[in-house]
Amino acid sequence: MTKKPWVKVRAHSFILRSMKKVLVTGGAGYIGSHTVIELLNHGYIPVIVDDFSNSDKRVLKGLEEILGFAPSLYRCDCTDKAVLKKVFEAEMPDAVIHFAAFKAVGESTEQPVRYYRNNIDSLLCVLELMQEFNVCELVFSSSCTVYGQPETLPVHEKCEQKPATSPYGYTKQVCERILTDATTANPTLRCALLRYFNPIGAHPSGLIGELPYGVPNNLVPYITQTAAGIREKLIIHGNDYATPDGTCIRDYIHVCDLANAHVKALEWLDTKVSACEAFNLGQGMGNSVKEVVDTFVRVNATPVKVEIGPRRAGDVEQVWADASKASSLLQWKTERSLAESLKDAWKWQKQLSIG
Ligand code: UFG
Repeated sequence: MTKKPWVKVRAHSFILRSMKKVLVTGGAGYIGSHTVIELLNHGYIPVIVDDFSNSDKRVLKGLEEILGFAPSLYRCDCTDKAVLKKVFEAEMPDAVIHFAAFKAVGESTEQPVRYYRNNIDSLLCVLELMQEFNVCELVFSSSCTVYGQPETLPVHEKCEQKPATSPYGYTKQVCERILTDATTANPTLRCALLRYFNPIGAHPSGLIGELPYGVPNNLVPYITQTAAGIREKLIIHGNDYATPDGTCIRDYIHVCDLANAHVKALEWLDTKVSACEAFNLGQGMGNSVKEVVDTFVRVNATPVKVEIGPRRAGDVEQVWADASKASSLLQWKTERSLAESLKDAWKWQKQLSIG
């Protein structure tokens, strides 16, 4: 049998009982599922809470294969406080990582009420239950979208926040504000607000990854589906931006690097008496849409049919992170390149096409 380098968990699972239990809302989703693995690899006990509104059972199968066992799981909508309370009662977690939220920028402009209800209500339910059950550590899944269109690059956490360009972005701004107010009122509550840039890639096993329903909105799933023949061609949304090659620039980060930051944030929260800090999570450099496509084609030796289309409404021209705060306070840095991310994304797509 070939050795699977990512299976690290079984070896030290015996010590898990004495370790911290972490409730992972949205734990069956894209970033959540990768974080579950990172938690286990660092001796935490993750408990997944997910309503499966935007996650797929195939991810659970992949998780089980990677881990060698099925992690604890509750099917629960986090806006249903009565049901979520039962999970808190049963599990008595030590900390919470709150991913559960709707996340499509475009969809949020069409269904703003649904987004406000879900994203804000779920955080409020989690917070109220944390208070009731005396759980003091929260890692919150935020986004660089809280900056709107930044005036200076790279974006630092202290940059002035512009109005959000979508209801989705506004929910993240509001949730960050709620957490800031909640920690001010109750200093025993400690929060890390993790502002993700553009997560891409998949677990190196190819067993879990991003599974968008329907036509993907995001660049990398669209590239992989085009390469796999599911989509006819990739439309590049505009090549007349004021960037070197005319296409938009983003800070792409491997999902496993991002997952690792959640563990670092938990470790950092443990050292604090009080805290509510925001952290940018990105590579600290930008790549254009064209560079991403060209890198994908080169590293995977797979063609992708491309056409230049008009600009996409709401797109920011260019944004990348100053991630120095996460590096110095969380002792976190990215380890995987754009090329590696795109190789892993393709491995996952091929595995999906077979399965
Ligand atoms: N793009 C294309 N063609 C596509 C898809 C995307 O050219 O088919 C371009 C976009 O126009 C953009 C770049 O690829 O220039 C990246 O687009 P994504 O949709 O992959 O990512 P965004 O930067 O728009 O959005 C991401 C997350 C959001 C988050 C936001 C924060 O998807 O959840 O970053 O800026 F809020």
